[in-house]
Amino acid sequence: MDRVDRDRIQIGTHSFEKYLQREAIKSRVHELGVDLMVDYHDKNPLFLVVLNGAFMFAADLVRACDFAHEVEFVKMASYGGLNASGEMKRLIGLPDKMEDRHILIVEDIVDTGKTIGAVREDLLQHKPASVEVVTLLLKPDCLECTFESPYVGFEIPPAFVVGYGLDIDGQARNFADIYQLKKGK
Ligand code: PRP
Repeated sequence: MDRVDRDRIQIGTHSFEKYLQREAIKSRVHELGVDLMVDYHDKNPLFLVVLNGAFMFAADLVRACDFAHEVEFVKMASYGGLNASGEMKRLIGLPDKMEDRHILIVEDIVDTGKTIGAVREDLLQHKPASVEVVTLLLKPDCLECTFESPYVGFEIPPAFVVGYGLDIDGQARNFADIYQLKKGK
């Protein structure tokens, strides 16, 4: 069997089993594209893809969006100093003209919600017309802040997941399916 199509994968000492099939992902991404079409077809939104994890989802999502839009990529970088939680981050790579634009932040996963919170905070300083989040995965039980979005692909339990852009120590982003860490591993 192809390396990128297996029921189970082993990454270092960690064993994962298939959790979300590529067909289910494809179908849900298409639905998200339809939802976005309804809401944004006349708004020329700017998709702001948060690297690295969202690259694969974003590539499929924008191809499912048959209306005028732009795509930019950003990254989070740590500040020199850290706050009490060690989570002080800022956004790098923001495009110049964000004012009055409709922004769609694209994420692979919202876990604690800290990353998306930091991205939103930075963006709002640029006075966009609107900011929404499109995330493939959401772990509701892990949220440490309020998070609401009409554009969530799948709500999933707290288990660690890899594949379709998501990594463990930089590995496993290439798999077309999403895998979940086996319990007890
Ligand atoms: C992952 C993911 C989100 C973030 C979500 O990024 O891509 O950006 O974690 O977690 P949170 O809701 O708890 O903040 P990561 O920092 O692992 O970097 P990567 O995208 O390069 O894999």
